[in-house]
Amino acid sequence: MTAPRSTPSPSLAQSLHFWARNASNESALLRTSLTVGLFDALPVEGEGTPMTVQQLAGKVGASVRGVRSLTELLVCLGLVHQDEARGLVLARPVAAFLREPSFRERLQEAVGGWGPMGRLEEAVRSGAPVTHEGQRWDVLEHYRRLFLEKVPSPSAEAEDFFDRFARSAARTWVLVTAGRLGLLEQLAAGPRDEAALREATGASERGLRTMLDVLGHLGITRSEGTTSTFTEEARQVLDGKALPYLLRSFSVSAQYWEALERLEETVRHERFILDLKDPEVSQRFYADNSNQITAVFASHFQLSRRAAATLAQVKPLAGARVLDIGTGSGVWGVAFARTEPTAQVTYFDQEVVLQQARRNVEQLKALGQARFWPGNLFTQDFGEAAYDFIILPQVLNVLRPESLPDMFRRVARALKPDGILVIAEYVLNERRDGPLDHLYFGLRRFLTNEGDLLSHSEYAALLTDVGLASSVCLPLPTQELVLAARPGVNLPTQLAPPPRAAA
Ligand SMILES: C[S@@+](CC[C@H](N)C(=O)[O-])C[C@H]1O[C@@H](n2cnc3c(N)ncnc32)[C@H](O)[C@@H]1O
Repeated sequence: MTAPRSTPSPSLAQSLHFWARNASNESALLRTSLTVGLFDALPVEGEGTPMTVQQLAGKVGASVRGVRSLTELLVCLGLVHQDEARGLVLARPVAAFLREPSFRERLQEAVGGWGPMGRLEEAVRSGAPVTHEGQRWDVLEHYRRLFLEKVPSPSAEAEDFFDRFARSAARTWVLVTAGRLGLLEQLAAGPRDEAALREATGASERGLRTMLDVLGHLGITRSEGTTSTFTEEARQVLDGKALPYLLRSFSVSAQYWEALERLEETVRHERFILDLKDPEVSQRFYADNSNQITAVFASHFQLSRRAAATLAQVKPLAGARVLDIGTGSGVWGVAFARTEPTAQVTYFDQEVVLQQARRNVEQLKALGQARFWPGNLFTQDFGEAAYDFIILPQVLNVLRPESLPDMFRRVARALKPDGILVIAEYVLNERRDGPLDHLYFGLRRFLTNEGDLLSHSEYAALLTDVGLASSVCLPLPTQELVLAARPGVNLPTQLAPPPRAAA
């Protein structure tokens, strides 16, 4: 099992990043592993024969893919061990604290708290219990108990587990709520009196007190008498554009809240609460998403320009025809256009999303090299021998695993004989037990009825089946680049240096 998170302490900036992106995934992972029965079904290390994912899924009566989405993360976190034959066992210390009846009771209580916690904003405004599924819940009291009361745990490892299980998601939601109430923006403006804060946010006295106590516990605020302000560290971290950016990340996380709450249904029956295969849901979600991606355009543009420069080392971009499938904000295709003014780039996505891409391409003065192609990437025929480069940027993870062979067949057909396929993805290691951030991203793709993350060799096998038998995997910061082509086509073996910021 990994060491408890307290050593060394993460900075507030690292914590906020985690609370915005993965903390609710972490709680949902542990909560669902418990309620689906994985912890009880797994043999304990040294006591029984390791079990495969298939056996485990059969034993608990859940989908194999659902169980795998959980166990890969449990292995990465060190709670479950995996042997060379992919046999799984529960780590001994975990088995020990999960056998403690009082600890199990605490976990069980936290399981029930997830849904009511989603009503925190209402509770803060009214100061009273909320009704959730016909029951009254004192959400403010739940928060106080979670963060402000000390309850002994059987061991440091058990306490760390409880923290991830119950408090991780609660941290995400208190920050989502503070954002929605405008509380963080108020505090960012300087020290504020409680009465002024109540007036500005609509919070009740008890609700505001609980919010400030919990935010204080998280190291974000400090209070003296009735005046509260950001801590010095929070002030530095949330300076300038950082606060709006953080608030946007929290609101993206909030989109997954109900689906994470009901993850058990998805793992058991592949019943999808946020089903991005539903065209209406997908259009709404990805229109928001491309706005969000536009907000981080600059950092993604660094990556895409580096990828374009890397490819230019082995194949001229002059006059190249480039197809960017699932373009989103357009950030990948436009990097090719900006690297070479004679490159012609086709941006393919859903109609609503292309509007955002067009704005970004226009801003970068690359409209003259652009063609916008609305369509459905699941069925579209992309033509034959038409493109020098086809980019699949963060888009394969949208496709369910069974759709990948057909997608690769259509893409390979559309590549010129010496064309190069450029995949930007979160590529897993060969054991499929890391990196952790990738696996959390993969869990979200599973729960939204989307794709699966693969290792390089898993990609290579699928690509070989469609004739793209030559491939390399190059690590970019935060994601990977898989480049594939027909045998004999020259592929880069290392990344070009990072582009200069101003170019
Ligand atoms: C995860 S985003 C990637 C965006 C962009 N390539 C990037 O790297 O920032 C996936 C993209 O696939 C698009 N997409 C999803 N389903 C689609 C469909 N059925 N047809 C066309 N595009 C689709 C979404 O609109 C979205 O822009």
